[in-house]
Parts: sequence; C-alpha cells; structure tokens
Amino acid sequence: MSSKLINKYNIAGPRYTSYPTVPYWDSATFSQSKWLHTVQTSFKESNHDEGISLYIHLPFCESLCTFCGCNKRITKRHEVESPYISYVLKEWDLYCEKFEGKPLIKELHLGGGTPTFFSPDNLKRLIEGILSKSQVAQNHEFSFEGHPNNTTREHLQTLYNLGFRRVSFGVQDYNLSVQKAIHRIQPFENVQFVTEAAREIGYTSIGHDIIFGLPFQTINHVQETITKTKLLKPDRIAFYSYAHVPWIKGNGQRGFSEADLPKPATKREQYELGKQLLADLGYHEIGMDHFALETDTLYKAMLSRSLHRNFMGYTASKTQMMIGLGVSSISDSWYGFAQNVKDIKSYYNLLDKNQIPVYRGHILNSEDLIIRTHILNLMCHFETTWDNNQMRFNDLPDVLIKLKEMETDGLVDIESKSLQVTEKGKPFVRNVCMAFDLLLQRQQPEKQLFSMTV
Ligand SMILES: C[S@@+](CC[C@H](N)C(=O)[O-])C[C@H]1O[C@@H](n2cnc3c(N)ncnc32)[C@H](O)[C@@H]1O
Ligand code: SF4
Repeated sequence: MSSKLINKYNIAGPRYTSYPTVPYWDSATFSQSKWLHTVQTSFKESNHDEGISLYIHLPFCESLCTFCGCNKRITKRHEVESPYISYVLKEWDLYCEKFEGKPLIKELHLGGGTPTFFSPDNLKRLIEGILSKSQVAQNHEFSFEGHPNNTTREHLQTLYNLGFRRVSFGVQDYNLSVQKAIHRIQPFENVQFVTEAAREIGYTSIGHDIIFGLPFQTINHVQETITKTKLLKPDRIAFYSYAHVPWIKGNGQRGFSEADLPKPATKREQYELGKQLLADLGYHEIGMDHFALETDTLYKAMLSRSLHRNFMGYTASKTQMMIGLGVSSISDSWYGFAQNVKDIKSYYNLLDKNQIPVYRGHILNSEDLIIRTHILNLMCHFETTWDNNQMRFNDLPDVLIKLKEMETDGLVDIESKSLQVTEKGKPFVRNVCMAFDLLLQRQQPEKQLFSMTV
C-alpha cells in the first residue's frame, strides 16, 4: 500500500457502529418518552418475525489493561456481582413492562469489561432471569466475551447449558514485552486452555481478538502472534487496529507515550502482513477488522448478504431492535438510539426510582435513516445503491462529487446509481463512509473525537 495514500487518508474518523455517530446525537430531539415510543413501535414491527437482540454490559475487571478503550470498572471485590445482576434484571423488567407481549430473543451478547469476572452461578442467575420473561428464537445466537486469564471450564459449561455457542477471547499480542507495556500478562497456555475447553464442550464459533499498532509492537510480534494463533485455529478473528483515544474521560490509557506507538506506515504494514497471513490460513476478511473461516456463520452471512453491524461490531443475525442493558450500554430501536448512564451509582439510583436509566440519545429523522442505510451497506457489503427514491437524499450529488477524488485514487467505482469500494479501497472504507456523513461535514469537530482511520 502506498504511503502517499496513507498520508492522504489517515485522518480521525468514526468506526460507524452507528449513524449518526455518538458525538453527533442531537439531545434536543431526544427524550425518554420519545425513546420509549420508538422502542414500542420497533417491538410491534419486528418482535414477532425476527425477534430482538440483547446486549448486556458487565463492566468489572480485576486488573487494568492500559491499552483498553472499553467502559470498565477495576475492582477485586466480587461482592459487586450480585447487586449488579439484580439491577440489570430490574432494568429488563422495566423494558418488558413496555412491550406488548413476550420478547423473542434472537441474539444475546455478554460484553464488558469482563463477563467472566462474574461467577458461573451469578451468570446463570442473570441469564435465567432474563429468559424467564422471554421466549428464545429457534436459531438464536448467544455469545460472550471471555478473558483467557479467568475463564474457567465451569464458566464455559454453564453458559453452554444456557444456550451459548459462541465465545470470543481477548488475546491482543503474545509477546511478553508488549504484554508488559499494556499491563496484561497472558501466557499462550491460558488461551490454549480456554480455546480447547470451549471446543470440547461444543462451542461452534470461537473467536480471538488480536490487536496491531500496540505500544512497542513490531511487525515480527504480529507475525509471531498469528503463528501461535494458527496452532489453535479459532473460527473467527477480530484483527483490531489499536485505537488511541486517551482523551476519553476515565478510560485509563496510560503507561506508555505516543512515541512508543508504531508510526502510521508501520501500523499499515502490520495490518497488511496480518491480513496476508490470515488469508494464507484460510480466513476471509468480513467487513472492517473481522476475519472468519468458511465454516463460520459470519462468513456465511457475508455470502448471503445478511451481515449486519451494530454497537457490538459485525453480526450474522440482523434484528431491527437491540436493547442494551447495564451501565453505559447503548440501545438501538432503528428509529432511535439511547445510552445508559456511565457510572454505577447513577445507574442504581435511577433504577431505584423505577426509571429506565438512559441519559442521552438521538431520534433519527428521514435523512438520518437514509444515510444510516448507505453507511451500513458500505460497512457490511462494501457497496451501496440508490436505485430507488427511498435511498436518495438531497445532498447525494454533492457527496458523489466529493467521492470523485477517491475514484481517481482507485478506492471506489462510481456508477450512475451505485458505488462500490474496490479491493484497494477496502482499508479506507471508513473514509468512504465519512463522505456520506452529512452531520460530520456540516459541523467538523473542534477537537479530536475519533481514532485515526489507519
Ligand atoms: C471487553 S474486551 C474483551 C473481554 C475481556 N475484557 C478481555 O480483555 O479479554 C473487548 C476487546 O476490545 C478490544 N479493545 C479494547 N480496547 C481497545 C483499543 N483501544 N483498541 C482496539 N481494540 C481494543 C480488545 O481486543 C478486547 O479483547
Ligand atoms: S481489555 Fe478487557 S480485561 Fe483489560 S481492561 Fe479492557 S475490558 Fe478489562
């Protein structure tokens, strides 16, 4: 990849897990009652046929990894588990009171933080509590994020018995000096143990998260990590670009300086090498960051064009509505987004008052809905079309003029009613989406809000 293109297109940009992106949510158009109205509309429209998705945020971790950009709370006090679960169940009850009929759960994901911080018994109480108010769709997908240092066979077995078939483990990098820099010592044997145990128990999709662009990480480290990954052959690999976002309050990215991070050109070489090595091992690139073997549902979803992207990243099963439970979780009713309060005390206080604990959100207007669909098409299928009026918005011609330069650079092919991202353009798909992002263009951020696109 030419360094000219990298220099030109490596700018701060959203990862488009939503459109409008969170900093562009319009609080003026948002209220609790409008949010609940969109939830009820979406529930009526979609629960019966496709069901809904649930994301449950479990924020606790025993130890801080200094690269981490997730919303987490570091503690060794496991007494926090039980009250937290009671409050999540209370939040679910409040939503169920608003639904007309029993929710049909298609997808359920436990994210974090570290879900395996919780004991298997507490996770069982959580899932049984959720399911006691719901029906489970036949082809449901239940998944969780496991930390290789604390996932036990009992965790894996308990969640398997409750219907979980997919698990992802945070690997990041196997090199000790990198692990020291990110404050996460995690021997290969730990990853091997959890991966093999999950496979023996019957999990059908095991994922590993690997990161490039970490402090002190070299191209050799990326190569060694993928060579070791080969030994365990996970079904999916998330190959993330390290997102350096130290300005986000309380995220704890520290312990190294920017000078310790690989330069953009080196980072891009790490990505190119990683992508080639993964392709050699039989992994296919699925949208941004994700790779899967041909036997995995994510690959099959890509082929059948049923791939979807939401706040959890890429998923094989699209539902119109995703309810996020737990502190800081984001919900998506398709017509609106809402985020829960980020600190645990406020979360508990609002639930004590029987209030759904959202504190900000956005209700989508008709332009937002069209742009959202284009951005989803680009992120999931690397192409989009406007061959019917429902997919046109007033400013589309101006957007296409802007994209002409990307066409000259060989990143996209533009036809009269469609646009396709080329192979060369795939690493720059976020930049292509930014051309469609009218809210970003109308108001450029005054300070950096997003990580770099390369
Ligand atoms: C919630 S963690 C996974 C579960 C568990 N807490 C663990 O660390 O194993 C989700 C994943 O997000 C990714 N991640 C976290 N911070 C990141 C960052 N700053 N840049 C890129 N990826 C990041 C990591 O790969 C991590 O495994
Ligand atoms: S990477 Fe995982 S374990 Fe580490 S701080 Fe982030 S959420 Fe917690």
